[in-house]
Amino acid sequence: MVKIQEQAWIMEHEKLARQTYRLMLQSPEIAAAARAGQFAMVRLGDGLDPLLRRPFSFHRIFPKQGIIEILYRIVGRGTGKLSRIQVGDSLDVMGPLGNAFRLPSCDSSLVVLVAGGIGIAPFFALMQDLVGRPDASLHLFYGARSGDELLPPQLFDGLRVTVHRSTDDGSLGYCGRVTDLFQEFMGSALPRPDAVYSCGPLAMQYHVARWALNQGVDAQLSLESLMACGVGACLGCALPAIGADDPATDHYLHVCKDGPIFSPGSIQWQKIQMHRALPQTFLYN
Ligand SMILES: Cc1cc2nc3c(=O)[nH]c(=O)nc-3n(C[C@H](O)[C@H](O)[C@H](O)COP(=O)(O)OP(=O)(O)OC[C@H]3O[C@@H](n4cnc5c(N)ncnc54)[C@H](O)[C@@H]3O)c2cc1C
Ligand code: FES
Repeated sequence: MVKIQEQAWIMEHEKLARQTYRLMLQSPEIAAAARAGQFAMVRLGDGLDPLLRRPFSFHRIFPKQGIIEILYRIVGRGTGKLSRIQVGDSLDVMGPLGNAFRLPSCDSSLVVLVAGGIGIAPFFALMQDLVGRPDASLHLFYGARSGDELLPPQLFDGLRVTVHRSTDDGSLGYCGRVTDLFQEFMGSALPRPDAVYSCGPLAMQYHVARWALNQGVDAQLSLESLMACGVGACLGCALPAIGADDPATDHYLHVCKDGPIFSPGSIQWQKIQMHRALPQTFLYN
């Protein structure tokens, strides 16, 4: 797959929720090649600080207009620096990287997305692709710690999606974990989905993965790991995986080149807990 490195101009930079911003970038070559689920490595400074590029999913993709968007949450130095970037500035962007979401089969009647916090980011590009599938009903379970971390409802207009919101503190929508809300619906109000997509903290993804494996439902999980290079060179983004030939032997998949989209059955979920080099958003809690 061709990797493009492009100087992308900032066209818009907007705060959408607490600590959450949307960047619109003019990046024609990457926009023409990018697919929902893939990501870009973004250099956040001209000098050595920060030294490493940071990975971000494509939030929305407008190939004809040559535009990509990134939705990000401030969690550390790099994203803090990103939040101070101005319209008219430019960023060095490399992408598209990794694999893309597989679209559901044409005869799918129910497609379910489960998003935790900033895990909503890649789902807008996926929902853009699904708008052209009027026969499939689309349900999004979208949770955050608090209501002010959820994206405003009007951003979902035109996407033909039914959004079920939850907050851990009960300030908006269902009070509790998004996985509890998801499971309540799956057990009663909604039939068995044809496809499930999930993105968010590991505990949430693990829950969705177990559910999908038990139900035999096709699921695609967008996973994170710490990334230094984004292109398969440093091997830093390894996740313990089920051995292809012998399930008992240790085997690793690399999020940047084998993912970030994985099937639930490919990951050794229990071993991830002991994996120390994982980002904070990734931990069980
Ligand atoms: C494939 C992929 C897609 C992502 N998409 C998005 C997105 O769309 N929106 C968004 O807000 N965040 C996304 N992230 C997480 C984002 O990359 C981190 O929040 C960001 O790198 C943190 O940088 P920092 O300098 O602010 O934080 P620091 O904690 O200061 O970063 C220090 C180092 O840790 C790495 N790091 C820290 N947290 C993460 C993390 N959660 N995942 C991977 N590396 C991390 C950084 O790249 C950096 O090398 C994605 C991560 C991956 C792997
Ligand atoms: S980030 Fe370097 S191999 Fe994946």
